[in-house]
Amino acid sequence: MKKSNRLDQLKSAVFAELERIKEEVAAEGITIIDLGIGSPDQPPAPHVYKALRDAVDNLANYGYPSSRGSKELRDTIAWWYRERFNVELDPESEVLVLMGSQDGLGHLPLGYLDPGDITLIPDPGYPVYAAGAILAGAEIYPMPLKEENGFLPDLTAIPQEVAQKARMMILNYPNNPVAAVADLDFFRKVVDFAKKYDVLVCHDFAYSELAYDNYRPPSFLEIPEARDVSIEFHSVSKTYNMAGCRLGFVVGCSEAIEALMRIKSNIDYGVFLPVQKAGIAALRGPQDIVNKNVESYKVRCNILLDGLSKIGWHVDRPKGTMFVWAKLPKGYHSSETFAEDILRKTGVVVVPGTAFGRQGEGYVRIALVQDEQTIAEAVRRISEKFDFS
Ligand SMILES: Cc1ncc(COP(=O)(O)O)c(C=O)c1O
Repeated sequence: MKKSNRLDQLKSAVFAELERIKEEVAAEGITIIDLGIGSPDQPPAPHVYKALRDAVDNLANYGYPSSRGSKELRDTIAWWYRERFNVELDPESEVLVLMGSQDGLGHLPLGYLDPGDITLIPDPGYPVYAAGAILAGAEIYPMPLKEENGFLPDLTAIPQEVAQKARMMILNYPNNPVAAVADLDFFRKVVDFAKKYDVLVCHDFAYSELAYDNYRPPSFLEIPEARDVSIEFHSVSKTYNMAGCRLGFVVGCSEAIEALMRIKSNIDYGVFLPVQKAGIAALRGPQDIVNKNVESYKVRCNILLDGLSKIGWHVDRPKGTMFVWAKLPKGYHSSETFAEDILRKTGVVVVPGTAFGRQGEGYVRIALVQDEQTIAEAVRRISEKFDFS
């Protein structure tokens, strides 16, 4: 069967290879400890699934929802933004409900980029940034995230001719996979860049509530001038352990929101109303689960990092997200070889940094998505087979 050429460009060879090796290892009878995909292992808060269950019982909730999202949820999002970031939003024109932030990130380029336009994306970066650009036929200019720059892109390194052709830039702080954060000073520089070159900034804020040591990540929209040139994507997946519900939202520049809305209204009919009700309960209700998540990822992280340092693998502590971005131990140069070695010898799955772009070489990403005992078991198995000191 002849399929589209763009389909080939969407293949992630690294993830596919990892899956293949995982199956081989499992077939040998080794129990897999999967620290690969970042899917939360904890359930949502009781008041959230009660709201979902009650709404499922209401037969009025089974019609087509609106593509824009219910007014009640959009009002709640605007309220949450005011409470959390002190940012005012118009729920009619500056808020759009999504089937997860992935939906918006993947579809926005169809409404915003023409073939040949350039989009600036972080490298390493979450794979949908590149996928969305490929589907729209746009060109990708990767912005390296290097440790020596605090994992922030160096805006001054973007060539003038690239900046002039760029129409979009994607940022993501707290960042997956590098687990770094960004402050408002950096965002101000990005706003200046965006205004100078007429670039739409898309800030993926999926980990807005997952940061450590009482650090509260700022919203890009806290900068007053940002509203005309940026949008910000959110997700309830990680914050409230609702990844399977498929609910997210995007806020900010009304023209960009309208473009995405137009694309989506041709493709889907919005999010099932009971899921939207659960989202309202999550945002409006008690936030204990958020603190509990942060606390439990931190405890898991300590077990992992303390254990690894005992065998000579010293890994930086993440500033945010549920991931550890670990530089390869001494003597290893290929992320893929290293991840394969760990998986074959111990059954522990970590993702080679190159799954997120070329600049990911030299690192692996470890997701803190197993309980404390399982993380301790992963450390035990690695310590048994490896000594990096
Ligand atoms: C940085 C980042 N953005 C977006 C997403 C997608 O989240 P959602 O479940 O809201 O589609 C993820 C999921 O892992 C992510 O890590």
